[in-house]
Amino acid sequence: MSDAVALVPAAGSGTRLGVGAPKALRELSGESLLRHAVRRLAAAPSIGHIVVAVPSGAEPEVRRLLSALSGAELTVVAGGADRQASVAAALAVAPTRYDIVLVHDAARPLAPPELAERVAAAVRDGRDAVIPVLEVVDTVKQVDAEGRVIATVDRARLRRVQTPQGFRRAVLAKAHASGGTAATDDAGLVERLGVTVHTVAGSEQALKITRPHDFGVAELYLELES
Ligand code: CTP
Ligand code: MG
Repeated sequence: MSDAVALVPAAGSGTRLGVGAPKALRELSGESLLRHAVRRLAAAPSIGHIVVAVPSGAEPEVRRLLSALSGAELTVVAGGADRQASVAAALAVAPTRYDIVLVHDAARPLAPPELAERVAAAVRDGRDAVIPVLEVVDTVKQVDAEGRVIATVDRARLRRVQTPQGFRRAVLAKAHASGGTAATDDAGLVERLGVTVHTVAGSEQALKITRPHDFGVAELYLELES
């Protein structure tokens, strides 16, 4: 049963990786981060359509890159100046027959299909907004501008947030239409509406590629996968 569309913001430049191709087009074990991410989303039975937002001008190249993947229909659009604008651009062209919308960063190439299924299932069960989370294992402290400790935060109530995040379509559309200053994730926009955001178990494998050494960690997960 395919009742979900996935939006994949992939239009970032990857500044923290250093100079090179846009981050989504960099390769992990011979396959671009974007293709890894889209291939796993397409393997999730809930997802019938995937909309990818890429750097303006890269649309033809990305269409070619992803053309051989099966399991979901594909649309490629130009992204925007920040992540939020890229998600909005993808949402604007997402087929309206899908009531469930997942938003997943191309920078999390190894998020397993089961994670997308878990998030989609929670939205299908009636939740308006669902995010995958992991517990925090380190002790966390708040510091001032000079790096001096102000307080120790209770880590038991903290969570690290991943993607894919899932939403009832109307809720995500309203959150994006309400604008406001940029949020680092879509749930952040939805929270401002006063809508309850629910959590499900995340996956260590859904790690985010941000700095160069993350490629090494991701390669280890790929080896475990095979
Ligand atoms: N993203 C996007 N459009 C932008 C900026 C970011 O679609 N204008 C996407 C990225 O491609 C990525 C996701 O949002 O899949 C999360 O962003 P991040 O990890 O910060 O990637 P970059 O912005 O590319 O990296 P950096 O912040 O280091 O430049
Ligand atoms: Mg960024």
